[in-house]
Parts: sequence; structure tokens; C-alpha cells
Amino acid sequence: MKILRTRSELRSHREGLAPGVRLGLVPTMGALHEGHLSLVRQAALECDQVWATIFVNPLQFGANEDLSRYPRPFERDVALLESVDCDVLFAPEASEVYHPDSSTRVIESHVSQPLCGSVRPGHFEGVTTVVLKLLNLVQPSDAYFGQKDAQQCAVIERMVRDLDVPVRLHRGATIREASGLAMSSRNVYLSEDERRVAPRLAAALDAMVIAFQQGQTGGRELEQLGRQQLEATPFEVQYLEIRDTLTLERVEKARKGATVFAAAFLGRTRLIDNRQF
Ligand code: PAF
Repeated sequence: MKILRTRSELRSHREGLAPGVRLGLVPTMGALHEGHLSLVRQAALECDQVWATIFVNPLQFGANEDLSRYPRPFERDVALLESVDCDVLFAPEASEVYHPDSSTRVIESHVSQPLCGSVRPGHFEGVTTVVLKLLNLVQPSDAYFGQKDAQQCAVIERMVRDLDVPVRLHRGATIREASGLAMSSRNVYLSEDERRVAPRLAAALDAMVIAFQQGQTGGRELEQLGRQQLEATPFEVQYLEIRDTLTLERVEKARKGATVFAAAFLGRTRLIDNRQF
């Protein structure tokens, strides 16, 4: 696997590829897990070349968030990417990505507003800005994002549609531990006790899906059920809402294809998860 650190290395490597090559991009912030690796495998099946990026994007972290302590196990990440035959890793420093006087941002102003958008102001602006920059730099034919970050997928899809970005987007399925806990780079923050409780978030969403399959369609009733499941746990729910998967509009009556989105704190660790009905 070739490791590129600078924009100019990236450009010259990209220019060396044959025109029309199918290039799959997997943007990440590192601290890779099976969720990321499954995206690389999916890209490898569909593309001629797979490129990954590792960049802990300061622009998408709020002032009191975990930018400085975000895990950065670079050597391990490189070995994992090599194990799934990733062709190129672009791992730039922040100074390589953002000009010191950078003053342009990409703002999606609808899908990014509720849920994480309302509790993490500026977060999606940071995501869309860096993702558009990575797409512009790498010029992939395809890009892969995990369904675990379902709102992020919807925001990026909207940006790509609205700005006519020439890339095909793919959502990769959420990969879960045997307990049901969705894999996340932030799971390393969990203590042993918290790890035992963490799967209850996915279990609460599962209970909602089961109730829906058994005929309950009232959105508020289903949300209430999900919250009740978490009441007896140390989870502090930040949001648990049923919304349209693509527009993120609130859904009064649950329907097939709608999504329940959840974010909850376990101690200091914020976990998100979602399920489609
Ligand atoms: O999902 C992530 O890891 C990040 O938000 C992304 C898409 C790599 C942008 O920094």
C-alpha cells in the first residue's frame, strides 16, 4: 500500500492512473475497525483501485469534544488497511488539508439541521467541507460511507446531489459486535462496565423494530418504547427519533424504510446508532 502525505504526492499519483479507472474512496478518521474494513472490501469488489484516507478533521469537532483524545493508532491502521488490500492511503496533516487562511465552507442547510446537527453545531459543516475537499483531491468514481452514521450519509448524499459532484455514493451496512453494539472508533473510550451495558442501545432500537413488525406504527409510541428500554440503564438519551431516511423529516407514523436515529451518553462517551424499519 502506498502512503501519501501531501496534496502534491496525491495529485501526481492520481494523474498516473489510467483514465476511466474505477476508483473507490473510503474516507475515515482512522482508529479503524471492521466497519471501515468492510467498506474497503466492498470498494475492492466494485472498483479497480481502493484508496482510503485517514484524517482526524478538526473542523468537525466542537470546542468541548474529543479532538485531542481521539484515538490515532496509525501503525495498526496501516496494517489493517494492508490486510484488506487497500491500494493507497492518504494521511495528511491538517496543514496540508486546510490553508492557514482558509475561509470557504460547505453548508448543507436542511438534512444537517436536526439530531446531531442540533446538538453538535458546526459538525456537519466540517464534514461536508472535508468530504468535498477529499472528493476534489482524489476524484474517485465511487465513495463509501458507513450506515452507522446514517445522518452523515444523508447529508453527504444531499451535498453530492445539490452540487453535482461526479461521484457514486455507497452506504455500507453497520457492522456490529456479537452483542449487537455497533462498531465505532469511540467504543475504546468505554470502561469494562460500560461495555457490558452499551449493547442495550442497539437492543432498544431492535425492540422498536419488533414492535413495528408486530403492528405498532405510532411514531411517538415507538419512541416512548425505545426510551423506556433505556430508562433502566445508565444511558442518558440525547435523542431518539423516527425520521425519513433521506430527508430527515419527522415521521408521525412509522413506515418501512424510515429510520430510528439515536444518540445517548454512557458516562462521558457519546454513542450513536440507528435502525431502519
Ligand atoms: O465518518 C467519518 O469518519 C468522518 O466524518 C469522515 C466522513 C471521514 C469525514 O471526516
